[in-house]
Amino acid sequence: MMRKENIPEKLKPLLKRWEKQEKEFYISPDNLFTYNHHNLKYKGGEDIPLAGWFASNGKADDKYKLSKEDVEDIAQELLKYYKPTKWTLILDWHCNYQCPMCCYHGDGMSDTDYYKDRGGQKKVISKDKAYERIDCLVEYGINSLSIMSMGEILLYPYWKEVSDYAHNKGMDLWTITNGSLWTEDIVKEAANMGYTDIRVSLDTISYETYAKIRSNKKEYFERAMRLPELLMKYGIKVNVHFVEQKENKDEKQEFLEYWKDKKVDSISIAKQFYCENETVKDMYAEMGKEYIEGLCTAFGNMQTLPDGNTHCCCGRMFEATSEERKLESIGCQNVMEDAINNMRTAESEMRKICYRCGMYVPYSDEKIMDGWKIIKNSERETWMKL
Ligand SMILES: C[S@@+](CC[C@H](N)C(=O)[O-])C[C@H]1O[C@@H](n2cnc3c(N)ncnc32)[C@H](O)[C@@H]1O
Ligand code: SF4
Ligand code: SF4
Repeated sequence: MMRKENIPEKLKPLLKRWEKQEKEFYISPDNLFTYNHHNLKYKGGEDIPLAGWFASNGKADDKYKLSKEDVEDIAQELLKYYKPTKWTLILDWHCNYQCPMCCYHGDGMSDTDYYKDRGGQKKVISKDKAYERIDCLVEYGINSLSIMSMGEILLYPYWKEVSDYAHNKGMDLWTITNGSLWTEDIVKEAANMGYTDIRVSLDTISYETYAKIRSNKKEYFERAMRLPELLMKYGIKVNVHFVEQKENKDEKQEFLEYWKDKKVDSISIAKQFYCENETVKDMYAEMGKEYIEGLCTAFGNMQTLPDGNTHCCCGRMFEATSEERKLESIGCQNVMEDAINNMRTAESEMRKICYRCGMYVPYSDEKIMDGWKIIKNSERETWMKL
């Protein structure tokens, strides 16, 4: 007998469709949240109960595995319930570094039309425009905001005013920085302005390597290396970030041990992505990853670029967008619904981008070791202090 009372509301429409197709199925927490020995997290399905089972023929069959197509159907059905509570507002492009790997300022970027097409690299968002975007996000229910630059956030002239404005509207703030310009006074101000989390991108603990892949200014290196402990002193959670490149690939372990010793909140070791003709190069094909539609955990990490165009993940930031996707004119709800609907249609343009996206992350695996939770996926490994 089919245990209909156990079927989560959100899955009923899908199961009705499956029944109509006379499809055989058996769903239990064991197979719903596991695929190919990996744990799955469905966007929009976070509240699905982890108990009970339901089957098309009423018989429990522990051996029944959901197929790739089944998982895709479920993931896409649940996606429509997804509503982000975090958002990234990119307000500036300027940087005091030119890291060779960087997709915005690094090798080769000056030859492209990327900035020209987006109103020029010198463009900075006015205070009023930033406030307008924040109002729109508050109304939608965003309570955690990343105030970001595609360069160095402290170079954004209205950083303090805009941070204050967002915090006074009840938002927690976070950002990513190269760390080169922070003093103790600025850290204190950031803590007062509601910054709860800051990532410091370092890529090495050696000045020699730093000079090659980040900046050769020693005072920048020293300030960046001091920043994590200063942030912790003022109660801001810190993540130190390492992007694996040719020049630092043998320094991962040293980096990890150094920052574990300093007891930072988290350490991330990420793969470098490569941009080619202004798109993130297709690493999926090279790495032989299996692409499961609707399951990319990066989907829904909303980003509004300085020109107002809004993207539903960092994998799409290089995509040319139309005027219609501007946050202040159409609002968060439309941007989100548009993204989700597009993701769920058979001929989706968005899905085509996903298939060649280097940032595709379908699942993460976790383990606990020596007081750290280690979360590993195809794009990065993150050590979280317990
Ligand atoms: C564009 S930066 C902006 C913030 C700041 N300038 C910094 O370096 O942290 C945002 C993040 O992207 C990372 N990043 C830049 N280029 C990358 C690449 N080719 N592959 C992977 N990560 C990259 C940086 O290390 C940084 O953590
Ligand atoms: S500091 Fe950040 S934004 Fe600036 S060049 Fe380096 S990676 Fe790019
Ligand atoms: S695969 Fe890439 S483009 Fe598609 S949702 Fe993930 S990050 Fe975005």
